[in-house]
Amino acid sequence: MDWTREMRYRPYKDYSALDLLKLQRQAGSSPAQLHYHIHPASGLLNDPNGFSYFNHEWHVSYQNFPFGAAHGLKSWMHMSSNDLVHWQERGMVLTPDNQYDSHGAYSGSALAQGDRLFLMYTGNHRDKDWVRTPYQLGAWMDKDGHVEKLAKPLIEKPAKFSEHFRDPQIMEKDGHYYAILGAQTAEGEAGHIDLWTSDQLESGWHEVGLVQMSQYQMGYMIECPNLVFVDGYAVMIFCPQGLNKQVSSYQNVYPNMYLIGDGFNFDHAELVNSSDKPLNLDCGFDVYASQAFNAPDGHAYAISWVGLPDTTYPTDDENWANCLSQVKELHVKDGKLYQQPVSAMRTLRVDAKRYDFAGTLPMIPEPDTQQYELSITIAKDQEGSLNLLGSQDNHHALKLNFDTKKGQLTIDRGQVGQPVATDHGTTRTIDLTASHDLELQIFIDHSLAEIFINGGAQVATLRYFADQNNNRIYFNQPTKAQGSLWPLSNM
Ligand code: FRU
Repeated sequence: MDWTREMRYRPYKDYSALDLLKLQRQAGSSPAQLHYHIHPASGLLNDPNGFSYFNHEWHVSYQNFPFGAAHGLKSWMHMSSNDLVHWQERGMVLTPDNQYDSHGAYSGSALAQGDRLFLMYTGNHRDKDWVRTPYQLGAWMDKDGHVEKLAKPLIEKPAKFSEHFRDPQIMEKDGHYYAILGAQTAEGEAGHIDLWTSDQLESGWHEVGLVQMSQYQMGYMIECPNLVFVDGYAVMIFCPQGLNKQVSSYQNVYPNMYLIGDGFNFDHAELVNSSDKPLNLDCGFDVYASQAFNAPDGHAYAISWVGLPDTTYPTDDENWANCLSQVKELHVKDGKLYQQPVSAMRTLRVDAKRYDFAGTLPMIPEPDTQQYELSITIAKDQEGSLNLLGSQDNHHALKLNFDTKKGQLTIDRGQVGQPVATDHGTTRTIDLTASHDLELQIFIDHSLAEIFINGGAQVATLRYFADQNNNRIYFNQPTKAQGSLWPLSNM
């Protein structure tokens, strides 16, 4: 379907309850529907927003256009959880309903303050000539989930930036409030992260300055910056659109990357001793706009949009698109970010049906569902291909081509089913340590694969669109490996 501007920005009230119900039914009955990941009840999901811990619960919202698989009028759809794995939908918390966010309640973050949660987000406003003005806005959410927006913007766009100034991440440090924003300079169109501070929260915001974090230009626009403190390091996670591939290579249309510093200087807006050349946060095909925060339990957690801007997916035809990743716990080891499943992911395992395997194997017991966790160690110094989601006739599979002697893994989604974003290639190659066992922890959820490599040293996330009967798991030749497979329950 071609989505005209009028269709994208049609007010929600012009749709009937029945329109929405039909869309929800259609999304709910999709064979590709996710069963233990956050997905839209209808329409399009993009960035995670307001990831936080408040009132003894975990919270995350996502950018949602409920009326189709299009980037239309966006709201925040709110989810909450007791364990970071089982999520419940709580309804829309921020909708476009005033002069500042009339054309979308865009991405932002949340900060717990006593018995209320402060939401800071970008209001997307366009005038009658379609000229855009972004406003950084505030709102309070109480324990019952009721939201009250502040009457006035917290931050108005400085003239030095273009219309692209958005996605505030709010933090509190030593009694001061700080926010980092993604920005594009009006002159020269360079991507930056801009630091702001206030002592009052509801007012008094002023600019500290552009964050110094790399000697290289970070593309033409940075979206969704997140600063998180991990194992004594400061980690900046961000999306540098248009980053020169000579600085850091990437294959997706837009990258989601990170830099590590020894610390962050809030007075001078500097990522101290930055790693300088950003690395891909995810080595797969579809991760973007990840949001991370330091939780009161002492851990740093991240959650990602599994989907990319300017990209179509096969479920668009069913009027829904995209999902969020599982939550990942962050660590820093040897100057690199590690991402691991949270321990509560184990509660999804159906232990009564656990399959263990070991030996020189041609294949692994076939699950009767595309909803499982496969933990597998492939012994060092072997070459071959582990095929997942395989059809009976061997024509279709997700191929994990490994060379544990050289230390390389290539993920090939070219033959698994319906094609996705093939302009950006059908393979992703990940360099590993030579002559080492390869440990994979693989989560499959009907159209999503999340592959944690060597204890989370790398993660490769990807959507695939295969026949739901294609469940064969096999090596192209007998391979020395061991591991376990658990069917997983719904969340
Ligand atoms: C990133 C993004 C953000 C923006 C939001 C709008 O995917 O473009 O920069 O706030 O999506 O939905």
